[in-house]
Amino acid sequence: MNALRFPSEFVWGASTSAYQIEGATKEDGRGVSIWDTFAATPGKVRNGDTGDPGADHYHRYAQDLDLMRELGLRSYRFSVAWPRIQPNGSGKPNQKGLDFYRRLVDGLVDRGIRPMVTLFHWDLPQALQDAGGWESRDTALRFAEYAEIVFGALHTRDWLTINEPKTVVDCGYRQGVHAPGIADWDRALVACHHLLLAHGLASRLLHERHPGRRIGPALNLHPTYPAEDTQACRDAAERQDVIENRLYLDPIFKGYYPEETLPADRSHIREGDLAVISEPIDLLAVQYYTPVFVGPDQLRVIKHTTRQAGWLEDYPDGFHDILTRVHRDYPAVPLVITENGLATDDEPGPDGRVADEDRVSYLRGHLAAMHRAMKAGVPVEGYHVWSLMDNYEWAEGYAQRFGIVHVDFESQKRTPKDSAIWYRDLIRTGELH
Ligand code: NOJ
Repeated sequence: MNALRFPSEFVWGASTSAYQIEGATKEDGRGVSIWDTFAATPGKVRNGDTGDPGADHYHRYAQDLDLMRELGLRSYRFSVAWPRIQPNGSGKPNQKGLDFYRRLVDGLVDRGIRPMVTLFHWDLPQALQDAGGWESRDTALRFAEYAEIVFGALHTRDWLTINEPKTVVDCGYRQGVHAPGIADWDRALVACHHLLLAHGLASRLLHERHPGRRIGPALNLHPTYPAEDTQACRDAAERQDVIENRLYLDPIFKGYYPEETLPADRSHIREGDLAVISEPIDLLAVQYYTPVFVGPDQLRVIKHTTRQAGWLEDYPDGFHDILTRVHRDYPAVPLVITENGLATDDEPGPDGRVADEDRVSYLRGHLAAMHRAMKAGVPVEGYHVWSLMDNYEWAEGYAQRFGIVHVDFESQKRTPKDSAIWYRDLIRTGELH
């Protein structure tokens, strides 16, 4: 392949989230989150793994910041743990929690790395779950209060509201394989509405009180394709697109829900809610991992298997297709890729190297597809690989490693994998080889 050149102002970065890397779940006044509870419930997470030790980032953040600088990152996207800021999900903020994120942001700025802050990456305070969680409208109102505390404490430009509402809805409320472990589609749709309302309320607040900053949601988008070239498959793929993508994109960009997703009982949707949800956004954070191929019976067909994560197919064209589609079907807004990556199980060899060539090949293919979309006019301003380092992969515990930096979860030693070195060179030259 000829080298592909990226614009010099293109923002290269990496992503993490609080519960997945921080550890220290009982320190400095942090409250309990629904993931602490879920992980401690027998049978929910592989090997019974919990967020401790994580990558012990709460204690090792300074070393991790140095690592980011060595890799040449220009942006770092992380999340704030709500239970560190409001241990019970409401009321007076916990200073020690705020201080941690202030130190982190200062450390980034000192190193010339742009912070991008996610407000909610799934670690809901348990006290709010006990009061109904996302099925309760009150959680959206509490979220806006929490957001305002964090907006006031961290002086940084770019903000993301809710990380992957679709995964919360689908894994947390429809399949029950993530916290809070509920398996009921009607309840999932109520939770969905309140997650989107929370997004809208926080976005509106930022616009009213902090002009000059930018905010948007982080949506995982999955292009859907017919598994076979038949009418039945094409129809099934279209129906699946509603559930995967339009359930989130339509209300946020257009102010309505796709007809098919409106439940019989709509009492949770109040007048004015959709105007809040469709508060204009300043950027759309796109997370892309995999397409979904759909059979006539609406069942998913896996076509391009990857070794480690069964749900993740290596299909770069899907990245190109979803980017061009979003740009075509929805009002123009800057796009930032906030997640894309692959799980591999490579461990350091005798020479200390971690030879993760599958990851390099996945990233190379996906970046070329993104480049193609950019050439076609899609305004992508940055890209963040998931993830900076190996971490707690939710229901898969520590068994699935998405990092470009290897973490030994016993010694907490960090070892940049071959993909990290490759990424560093790409950032330095702006050329994809
Ligand atoms: C999306 C989620 O936001 C992140 O937390 C997760 O680790 C990756 N996908 C990989 O599954």
